Amino acid sequence: MNDIPELNLPHVRIAHPEHVSEVIQNMIKDGHDKLQVVADFDRTLSKYTHRGQICSTCHNVLEEGHVLPDFYKDEARALRDHYFPIETNPKLTVEEKIPVMVEWWTKAHDLLTKCHIKRDDVRKMVENSTARLRDGCTWFFDQLQASEIPLLIFSAGIGDVIIEVIKHQATLHDNMKVVSNYLEYDEQGQMTGFQGDMIHVYNKNEGAIHDSDYFQNLEHRNNIILMGDSLGDLHMADGAVGVQNKLKIGFLNVKVAESLDLYMKRYDIVILEDETLDVVNAILQKVLQSKQ
Ligand code: TMP
Ligand code: MG
Repeated sequence: MNDIPELNLPHVRIAHPEHVSEVIQNMIKDGHDKLQVVADFDRTLSKYTHRGQICSTCHNVLEEGHVLPDFYKDEARALRDHYFPIETNPKLTVEEKIPVMVEWWTKAHDLLTKCHIKRDDVRKMVENSTARLRDGCTWFFDQLQASEIPLLIFSAGIGDVIIEVIKHQATLHDNMKVVSNYLEYDEQGQMTGFQGDMIHVYNKNEGAIHDSDYFQNLEHRNNIILMGDSLGDLHMADGAVGVQNKLKIGFLNVKVAESLDLYMKRYDIVILEDETLDVVNAILQKVLQSKQ
């Protein structure tokens, strides 16, 4: 399809190939000047598994290594074991999940606040963590930067961790904006809580970014590539204005058989159990080749 062989791979599922084909053709025709990208972080830009081993999310990074006490690790793991199956349960509606997710994020953030970590601890924890950017992420970031295509990373993870992961494993370019939960520190550099309103997986349709001038300033970029791994990620670009072509790319990493139908209804392209950004990069390459 569209001279993009990656779209025909067996782990790439497309419910409406003609629609996807048309959207990609429009994006190629309009070129990079009309494009903006909005991406989730955990398990979208970062891997769910690396060579088969499960990788850390932003929050999980804090459970690894020797910086935080055992009580933090035990309680954070117990919270995840309870709440993650609910987050990814395809039988529950988003409305049913929202109060439960608020409960998880509140408990997780309160638990972390009790540990009084220092600014420098985050960098050390990231360096020793199993959080991994997908293969091809560096190329993706570098190409977007080279063509001045804005990239909004919209995450319910932890902003401080995301920045460190990107700096450590790729390059944090000035066309990239990371909207997430950021730690708040006192004058001694000790964490005292979180800044601003909490972002969890199912409130990405709300919040500061949609009210800010971010999307207004990109009004002339009518084409959006949106990338996520949760159904909540579909709303990350709800604040965008004048959208003409939106390509929604979903990474389905867990409960694949049970969730596939739902993901294929909501995402234009669904990528199953992949550790790379190859499909996205192949599409981006086509758009960039159309550069005058
Ligand atoms: P994302 O929006 O960047 O994908 O980040 C949200 C992910 O963070 C979500 O899939 C669940 C995960 N998470 C943890 O792994 N541990 C936690 O304590 C919390 C609150 C979230
Ligand atoms: Mg995610």
